[in-house]
This record gives sequence, structure tokens and C-alpha cells, in this order.
Amino acid sequence: MTGPLSTADIREKYLHFFESKGHLRLPSYSTVAPDPTTLFTVAGMQPFKEQFMGAPAVFDGVASKRVTTAQKCLRIGDIENVGRTLRHCSLLEMLGNFSFGDYFKREALTWAWEFLTSPEWMGLDKERLYATIYQDDEEAFTIWTQENGLPPERILRFGADENFWPADAPKEGPNGPCGPCSEIFYDRGPKYGDDTWAEYADTRESARFLEIWNCVFPQFDRQEPLPDGTPVLKDLPFKNIDTGMGLERIATVVQDVYDFYSNDVFAPIVAKVAELSGQPYEGPQSVSHRVVAEHLRSVSMVVADGSQPGNTGRGYVVRKILRRACRHAYLLGLREPSLYKLVPIVVERMGDAYPELKDNRAKIEATVKAEEERFLKTLEGGIQRLGGLLSGLEKGSVLSGNDAFVLYDTYGFPVDLTKEIAEEYGITVDEAGYAESLENAQNVARAGSKYGKSELFGGNLEALDGLSPTEFVGYDHLQADGEVVALVGAGERLSHLPAGSEATVVLSRTPFYAEGGGEVGDTGRLEWDGGSAVVRDTRKTPQGVFLHDVEVESGELRDGTAVRGVVSGERQAIQRHHTATHLLHAALRAVLGSGVAQKGSLVAADRLRFDFSHGAALSADEIAAVETLVSRWVSANFPVSWQEMPIAQAKAAGATALFGEKYGETVRVVSVGGSVDYGGQTVSSMELCGGAHVTRTGDIGAFVLLGDENVAAGVRRVEALAGEAATAWVRERLNAAAKTAALLNTSPDALEARVSGLQAQLRAAEKETAGVRRQLAEAQMGGGGSAAQTRELGGFRVATLKLAGIEGNDLRAAADKLLDQSGADVIVVAGDKGLVVKASKDAVTRGAHAGQLVGKLAAAGGGKGGGRPDMAQAGITDADAALGALDTAF
Ligand code: SER
Repeated sequence: MTGPLSTADIREKYLHFFESKGHLRLPSYSTVAPDPTTLFTVAGMQPFKEQFMGAPAVFDGVASKRVTTAQKCLRIGDIENVGRTLRHCSLLEMLGNFSFGDYFKREALTWAWEFLTSPEWMGLDKERLYATIYQDDEEAFTIWTQENGLPPERILRFGADENFWPADAPKEGPNGPCGPCSEIFYDRGPKYGDDTWAEYADTRESARFLEIWNCVFPQFDRQEPLPDGTPVLKDLPFKNIDTGMGLERIATVVQDVYDFYSNDVFAPIVAKVAELSGQPYEGPQSVSHRVVAEHLRSVSMVVADGSQPGNTGRGYVVRKILRRACRHAYLLGLREPSLYKLVPIVVERMGDAYPELKDNRAKIEATVKAEEERFLKTLEGGIQRLGGLLSGLEKGSVLSGNDAFVLYDTYGFPVDLTKEIAEEYGITVDEAGYAESLENAQNVARAGSKYGKSELFGGNLEALDGLSPTEFVGYDHLQADGEVVALVGAGERLSHLPAGSEATVVLSRTPFYAEGGGEVGDTGRLEWDGGSAVVRDTRKTPQGVFLHDVEVESGELRDGTAVRGVVSGERQAIQRHHTATHLLHAALRAVLGSGVAQKGSLVAADRLRFDFSHGAALSADEIAAVETLVSRWVSANFPVSWQEMPIAQAKAAGATALFGEKYGETVRVVSVGGSVDYGGQTVSSMELCGGAHVTRTGDIGAFVLLGDENVAAGVRRVEALAGEAATAWVRERLNAAAKTAALLNTSPDALEARVSGLQAQLRAAEKETAGVRRQLAEAQMGGGGSAAQTRELGGFRVATLKLAGIEGNDLRAAADKLLDQSGADVIVVAGDKGLVVKASKDAVTRGAHAGQLVGKLAAAGGGKGGGRPDMAQAGITDADAALGALDTAF
């Protein structure tokens, strides 16, 4: 269907425009950034931080000081507003063009103007565009007014809170590249609000004036401020450009739809939510449709990028987003796992631009479904707890806001549901108190998030004050006895946990490894006389207090109870992956050179992930060499040992330390007791590490190195599997190859030859069909377009032609030909499902407008369309009705 530009068209046009200005187009980097300042990629510039600071601008071997990307970003600071407003999104696609010491302000602003206003690109009305600039940025002011012709009254000046990026960076940080910026706004017209641009200077909030593009001029490297708070901005080695246009925003403007949720990506997802729930998308409940649609989009993307729901770090965020979607699905009346059924439609709408969605569809569905099942189960625990609370209250009384909040925070219990159930008991909920508790928790989370604490501790650090460090015995023991020294739920100390509740438990002694150094926290069980609990995750505070996230299965867990901690069997798999990570690191350095430095890692039961600095993709030979080297260590079955020593001694012994990591005076060193040979080079492994390891390299078992990807400029990411995870992966691939071969009537060995044969056949068949289609069109057109009917309408010679069985490109080609051959001013060609209108140059100067014409014809033909004055297209369902409307269309 044709009509206003689709989101995909806009994305493509943007990238194409900047390619035409000499930019190198790069694919989106992962949402999981290796940059430790944020959990997720939050801006298009993030993968290029090093290049802004002066690192070589070379991307997979191609040098270019100008690049352009459409980057998927996750912004979670305002998650509570997503769905409540029509303008917040957690996942956004940022269209960006970047210059690393190449062009600067003038090109950035004039190209932005050209892209937005030229009819060939976005064709927006110049009269509707506005800009803001940094208070004293005269250079930007001159470019806007003199080069782009923007009247001065359409430019507002703001301070560093609005027109600096990151906002307020000079005072507030973070350290690193930053600079003033100029934002471009679009006036969506009075139907969105009767405010004026001048008023925007005060309100800074408008549904009418929508910010669409932020052009940043990073020229400073922000440093720690002086002790008196004076900001320190050092000049970067050169001046850079970083622009970011929200694709969702520009699509809303170009498609002239009311909000994000009505554009061509979101509308079908929202419609599916309505279909699954049977609840129409209208009224106050529409918040829930939006939350579900938006959050499923983000979750699908981050899971495709390898994140999984969990209790810490990124996993915590993924769980939080997914839980919020679950709650809203529940509010829409969905009582069975249903959200996973939205995944196919997200993949359908976005999978062409982000193939990782297609590749991981099954994994995304399974992840979402499992989390929904857990959520529904937890909710049952909440219903029981609420029942207990309510039956203890008199009819006509009030349930405290904090109780309602604890239900929400601990059991994921939506407050609206609490209200509904309380009503049945004749009890009301103190909503103001609930809002206050929520606000407090969010403030703690926000304040903490600067230091990454909110994600780690859910804001309940204070409740842990005064506890001594936990005795950790888990390097050598997978079971240990200890005593409960604290129970914490929703930021408060509790005396006991009833069955069904989820909370944090602190023990005096524990075998559970706490997440750290890339290794995930242990899971397992707590057992005591009369009860048991599942341990879902383990973390620790900087003071060394271990936090076990548990769900009580049966019995009651009381403060002071003697419990036995039993670490799950997954630990063996985690240890295999951890030792394998060390060997992989050493092997990468041997094969690729000592320029390889670890940038991040994940060690889990099902895989390991390793980010490292390296400028180019790994060749098949390099992958094979690294894999072989690791396997050699495994077969040698060397002992693995660990010992504590002073840091100076560790360094003198040649242990690898991570750059930028802070170590104490005493460090733990993990060494593999034997080296392997790589082309005459002796390769060994000794690293500073606090993680859990196997005792002999042979315990690792099979090892498979999966291909690598690019996660930031100059940073590669590899994944690898060890032990059973590796053999299962290989088995799955062998089965898939056997199945595919059977489908193609051949053997796995002959698969490659068979597929290239089929591809050649397919290409030949496509060529043949294209030829037949052309002949079909030509036959129907008659020689020289003689089959077309030509008549005089509104002072133009208009030729019309119906072509059965012709669509898309062929329809456009037929219209081109007809315009050439018939000598008519305006051409209208209708296929079964599409309509193309073209107007000659001369007709356009005389006032013909293909875009307007196609709109009228499409409306009569049961469709929608639009386009430029000289060429426009529409999707229709009734060609005769569309052509029938021609007489009245002029
Ligand atoms: N870094 C800027 C932003 O995120 C522009 O790309 O708004």
C-alpha cells in the first residue's frame, strides 16, 4: 500500500540522504552497550564515544570520519510515564549522522534543513519549523537565520538544561564528550493545542510544538569539577557532530497521526492487544493497550540482543518492563499468558530493519511466556496476602497506602486491582499514601541510578545498615548451613515471610556466589525445618553483605531461623563458562595480538559473552584458531588453582588485570597450571578474578566459539558455549542441517551445492516472471499506450489505463512509459490493488498535483494514498470505483 511515507521509508531515506553526503552507513549496534555509564544504549552517539575523543574512525576496516546509523536505544528513566502519555517510549530508534573532527555546525544544520524541507526527502512545510539554540551560540543563530532562512522570532535560546547534551553536563556530568546543541521543532498545528511558540519559552511543554531532531556539537571533554563545584570543560582534540532524530517522532509528523501509537509500526500492535483482550482501544483503559504494545516492543528487542529477565542489572530492567506489561495485560482481563502472542507482530513490523528479531523470535516468545507464567503465579501469592490483610480490617476502614505499595512492589500487584478487591470487603485504599510510597521508592531509585545502585538493590540499602559482611564459603562448598540475619521486603526489615512471598534474605554464612566480575549470581534453595524457599538470584552490597532473592515455597521463614543453603547444579555450568572465559581471553590475545583488552563479560550457566577491543571482524580462520587453542587447554586437563596475594606480587607474576577496574591491596589470582603452544608462542592464563572456577581444565568439556558481532566502534563481542551447552548446540545444528537436507532431498554434506543450485533456479524463474509481467503490461497497454483512454479534464489531457494482474514496480514502470509515449499531461494507471498517478513537469507548473489527485481517487476506491506533485501512489480495493471518481476529481 502506498501513501504517506512508512516508518521504514523514512529510516531508509534518512540513511540514504546522509550516504549521499559522504557518510558511511553502519548497522545499529546492540542495545546492550559495553559502555559502563549506562546499562543500555541510550543514544546513537554512544557506540562512538571513543571516536569523539580522538580514537581512529575505522569501522570494520573502512576509514570514515562521517557515519550515519539508525540506532535502537532504550531509555528507562521515565518508564512510569510510558502509556500514560502519548509521547513517552522506552524503545526508540534514533536516526543519527556523526562527524569525527570532519564537518561541523554549518553542514549539520543546513543538511538537517535540507532533509526536512526538500520535497525529495521529507518535504515538510518550512513555515512549521522552529529551532532552539544554546544561549550564546551566535554561530548557530547565524546559520539558522542566514543560511536556512529561519526568521529570528522562530528561534528560542535556552541554557544548559535544554540546549546542552547531555543536559546540564557541565555541572552534573557524566564526564566525557559533550557540547551545546540546537533542537528542531515542528508545529503540528492548532488541533494539537492553542499555545504559541513564544509561550513555549516558559512552558517548555507542548503537544503542538514537537521536538523532532537534536543536533549536538560535541567539542568538550567534561572532567571532574573543581572542589568548589566549578565545571571543567576541556577541549576535545577536534569538534564533532552528533545528531539524533527520533524516528517515532518524525514518523508521527510525516504521517500526520495524532501520536506514536497511531503510526504504522504501533497501530497493528495496539490492534492486536485489543483483539487478544477483547477490550477496545478507547477510554481510560487505553493506557493498558499502550503499555503492553510499547513494552513488548522493547522487551523483544533487548531479549533479541541477549538480555534476559533477572534480578540485577539489565535483567532487573527487563523484568521490570515485562512485569509492567503483565500487570496491564491483567488489568485488561487477560488471565492466561498472552503477551507472547504479540511477539510475531513486533517481529513482522520491525524484523526487516532488525533481523536479530527474526533470528531470535522463538527465544523471545519463550522468555515472555515464562515470565508471564511466573507473574501470574506471584499474583496468586498477592491475592492471598491481600485477603489476609483485608480480613483483619473492619468494614468501612482504609487499607494503608504502604500496604498497597508493598503488594505492588513485592508481588507485582496492581493498585487498581487492590482497590477492586478491597471494595468487595467494603474497604477503601489510601491512594495518596500509595502514591507517596511509590514516589519515595522512585526517588530512591532515581537518586541511586546515578551510581547504578537502583538496579542493584531496588533502593533498599538503608534497611541493611549495621549488618556485618556475610561469610562466603561457596568457592569450595555448594551447600552450607547458616542463619537468617535479616529479611527485607520493599525496602523494610520484616520479621517473617509467609509462603508465596518474594523478598531478600541475608544469611550469616552462604555458599551462594553473588553476581560480580561478569559472573551471574547463584540460584538454588534454602531449606529449614518446616519449609523451603527458591533462591532466584544472589547479589551483594559494596560492604560484602550477600542478598538472596527468594520466593518462599512452603512454611514460614523467620528472622533467626537456621537454614541450609543449597546451590543449584547450574553452578557447575557457570564455573565451566568462567574458566573458559579466561582461556578465551588468553587465546584471543595470542591469536589477535596484545591489543585485545577485555571490555566486559557475562558468565552464565547457558553461555558466556566476552567484549573486547579489536578493530575488525574475526575471520573464520581466527575463530577456528581461538577455538582450537582453548580446546587444547581443555584436553591437557591442567589443574586450575586460586590464591590470594598482594596486588604487587600478582602483577609481578604477570597476572592480567582489567583496565579501569579498582582492586584492593589483596587480590585473588586464578591460574591455569600449564601452557599451550600457538605457533611457537607459549600461551598461559593467569587473571585477577573473584569468580568461581572448575578445578581442572578438562571439566570444561566441549567448547564452541560462536561468531562475533560489533557492539561499539572498535569493540567486538563473542559468545561461546562450554560443556553440555556446547554439545546441545552442536546437536541442534546437526539436526537442523539433517532436517533441511531431507526437505531438499539431499544429504547435509551436499547441502551447500543444492542450495546454490536452487538459488540459481530461483533467480532464473524470477527473471522469467518479470519478463512475463512486463509482456502482460505491454499487451494490455497496446502499442504506444493506445489502449489508454485519453480525455480532457480541468484543462489537462488525462490518460487512464487499467492493468489487470500488475502491481508495485511494474505499475510504476507502466505509468512512466505511458507518460513518455502518450503525450498526455496526467497519467492514471490502476492495477487490482494499486493506483499510480503521474503528472508531466509542464502540468505540475500549470497546477496539476498527483498527490492530491491520488488522495481523492483512492478515497473512492476504498484505499489511502498520497505523494508528490509529479508522482503519487495509493493502495486501493476497487479500481473501477477509483477511476470512476476521475471526472469529479479535477
Ligand atoms: N546525543 C543526542 C541525543 O541523544 C543527539 O543524538 O539526543
